[in-house]
Parts: sequence; C-alpha cells; structure tokens
Amino acid sequence: MSHTSEPSSAMSGGTDVLVVGGGIIGLAVAWRAAQRGLSVTVADPDPGGGAAEVAAGMLAAVTELHYGEQTLLALNLESARRYPAFVAELEEVSGRSVGHRSCGTLAVALDADDRAHLRELHALQLRSGLEAQWLTGRECRRLEPMLAPGVRGGLRVDGDHQVDPRRLAAALVVACERAGVELRRVRADRLLVEGDRAVGVAFADGRELRAERTVLAAGSRSGRLGGLPPDALPPVRPVKGQVLRLTVPPAYAPFLSRTVRAVVRGSQVYLVPRADGELVVGATSEELGFDTTVTAGGVYELLRDAHELVPGITELPLTEARAGLRPGSPDNAPLLGPSALPGLLLATGHYRNGVLLTPVTGDAIAETLATGVLPEEIRPFTPDRFRSAAPVSQEQLV
Ligand code: GLY
Repeated sequence: MSHTSEPSSAMSGGTDVLVVGGGIIGLAVAWRAAQRGLSVTVADPDPGGGAAEVAAGMLAAVTELHYGEQTLLALNLESARRYPAFVAELEEVSGRSVGHRSCGTLAVALDADDRAHLRELHALQLRSGLEAQWLTGRECRRLEPMLAPGVRGGLRVDGDHQVDPRRLAAALVVACERAGVELRRVRADRLLVEGDRAVGVAFADGRELRAERTVLAAGSRSGRLGGLPPDALPPVRPVKGQVLRLTVPPAYAPFLSRTVRAVVRGSQVYLVPRADGELVVGATSEELGFDTTVTAGGVYELLRDAHELVPGITELPLTEARAGLRPGSPDNAPLLGPSALPGLLLATGHYRNGVLLTPVTGDAIAETLATGVLPEEIRPFTPDRFRSAAPVSQEQLV
C-alpha cells in the first residue's frame, strides 16, 4: 500500500501504520485503516480514554457556527452527514450502542444582549444555507417546559444531535480489536527518525516499533511526543473544559427532550440530556496548560449558568465533575494529513469538534494511508497551512 520503495515494515516485524493516541480520533483512524487491509497498531496506555471521557458529545455543526469558520463548517457538515451510517456500522460491528440521539438543539437567550447575539448567529446560519428556526420565549418554553420563565427567544436547530462519547470510545475499541488492530497499552515516548523520515516510535517501556507510517493523534498531548523535529511539531495546545454530570430520576423524565444551550455572561453553557437519564452540563473554557483540576469556581459557574436556564436542575443528583483538555489549534480547525516529516501524518487539533469530526477524520486519514491521495474534504486542513514556506507535494510526504 505504501508509495515508497522501502520494504514493508509489517514484513520486517513492524507495522504498516502506527497510531499514537487511542482516543476516538486515533481509534477511528485505526479502525478504518485496518478495514483497508493495512496492519495497524495503536499506542496508548488507556485506549478509549482521552478528551472523549469528559466531552458532552454534541454534534453541533449549526449551533456552534462561528464567524470566520465557514471552511470548518463544510467539514463539520460533511462529518454530521456521515454520522448515521458511521454509527450503524460501528454498532453492528461492535455489538454496542453509542447513544446516538437525533434530538435536535435549542439555543436560547436570557436577556436582550443574548437575543441580539443569537439573532446575528441566526442571520449567519441562514446566509450559510443552514436550517434554524427563530422562536419566541413562549415557543421555547412550549418545546421545553423546564426552561426559565425569563427566556427571551431562541433558535431551534433540529439537525444538531448528540452521541455519548464514552460509549463511542468503548465501541471503537471493540471495533478495532475485531478488525485486527493491535492495541499496545503503553505510552509512545519518542518518534524514531532515520534520515529524513519517521520510522516508528520508542515506547515508555524502552521497546521500539517500526512503522511505515506513523499517525500522531494524541489530542492536546500531540506536541509532547519526543523526537519531533521542530517543523513537524503540531501547534496544538490544551484548552481545559470542566463538565458536570447529573442524573434525571425517572419521576422527573422527560426533564429536557433536546440539548439546550446559551451564552450566559459571555460563557457557553449547555445541557445535554441522554436517553438513559444522564444530563451533561458543560463546559468551561480555560487556558491553563495541562491542568485537569476540577475547581469550585468552575463548578459554581456551570451550576449558576445552567440554573439560570433551567432552574429545576438544583433538584437533580450531581453524580460527577470532571475536567478534560480540548486540543486547540491556532485557527480552531484540525490538522489532518502529512506533516513536514515524511512518514508522519497528523490527525489532531480538533478543538471543540472532536466527537463530531470523528467519522470524517477516520475515513479521510485511512484513505490517505491506503492510497497516498488526500481526499478533497480535508485538503484545507493540512498542517502546512501553519508553515510559512511554500507547501510541498502531499504525495511526496505521505
Ligand atoms: N463542543 C463543546 C465544547 O467544546 O465545549
């Protein structure tokens, strides 16, 4: 499958593809690559962990649209389009539910400023050809009776759904195992480079594995792999998000029937109701490096803002508080495809959209690995957009 003249690493005791990072992105890449007939190893001490353990799992291409991110919107919509088939195949192969729920989203405004902001977002959505319907406060409350009486209006987006990222990760682990992916439960410590090419990794236990291609999919930790040459170092940083989990007792159901979200005093807050009664409340956004401490202030802000939206949440049992790290990139879009170092590809920097972008990332990186050709949909997201030098041929780097 390789476009190099070197002997197959798999034949010499190595592997065709080594994926560094067994979060949902790395696992999706590994699963899809194995389906293409490549031998694949994933290196991660805890496959199925990572940011997905904390994420709420909103598939929010429309409600998380931002000015200046229209290129990313196209990728988000493409992945949203692929989600139902991706879920059906994954559930079939793994025998596990991933909690996909076509519930829609309601983004609401609590005061005149919020309403003006939401009106602007609505205009941008309509200009971008997206479906979103403006509702009065009364119409919002008719749809979701637990909303606060003060809600001034909102946007109904029936196309923004959800999945349970923990279940998704668990299903991907099973799918990988069934597709023959080897899961090495050890940390990749250092990239091995020979000449001008990545040739595998050295693990924390001192062993090494050679690979024809290495895919760096380690989320916010992607820049921490040792041995990365400076021009192949992904510009990814951790952006902390604290998230709460509450439980809706059966007597209170249905508490909310769709995701409800708002911007309160400049901070995003969302409530994501699962079919099994879990209610996820997120998320802070903090630039604090690799800090995953749950703070009193973070929990207070989330509960205060969520309570303004849905006062009844104070009746619910609080079952969990966690913090995760989004892999932020300089333009909020992922880095997908060949790096500056031949033999090394990136699948990282998904920031707020990792769960949403899992299907398209898995498909596109596996396609690149199998054919040497970068699919059209990820061409705007190659890592060379952050390098000042003229881009080199993608074929040459894969
Ligand atoms: N996409 C939701 C978040 O990043 O908080």
